[in-house]
Amino acid sequence: MKRRLVFSLGLLSCLLFSVQAFAIQYGDPQAGAEKFQDKGCVNCHREGGHSTVPTFPILAGQPSDYLARSLLAYKKGARENPIMQGQASGLSEQDIHDIAEYLSQQSTSLAVVPGIGE
Ligand code: HEC
Repeated sequence: MKRRLVFSLGLLSCLLFSVQAFAIQYGDPQAGAEKFQDKGCVNCHREGGHSTVPTFPILAGQPSDYLARSLLAYKKGARENPIMQGQASGLSEQDIHDIAEYLSQQSTSLAVVPGIGE
């Protein structure tokens, strides 16, 4: 009985560690913040991805893998949009992961956007 408990606890800790191992952060959010500015993304999607224009999606606080997938889809032509295909074509996969990580860490609160969510 005691052996079984020790085994179960061992198994549980292995599972917990492997869950942690899967939560890999592919991108560097600091580098992503700079790239988001330098590559001009901020011009449409605004500071931190808090777009105020309805036709430019709010990117702040979206899951990083969702953002990375969207950007990879534009880059590879699987998702068609003339604006974003042009934007994504100039990004490396590392750029994409850095920017996605940065954006996912931004607050989703609309209160941070001047003039919205007062
Ligand atoms: C000229 C304006 C403009 C610029 C500059 C721009 N975007 Fe976009 N972005 C858009 C528009 C418009 C869409 C919606 C396209 C669609 O419907 O597929 C979009 C969509 C996206 C999406 C998908 C969002 C979703 O919910 O699926 C991501 C991610 C994104 N942009 C990231 C970026 C990044 C990173 C940059 C800089 C390299 C950038 N954008 C530059 C206008 C822009």
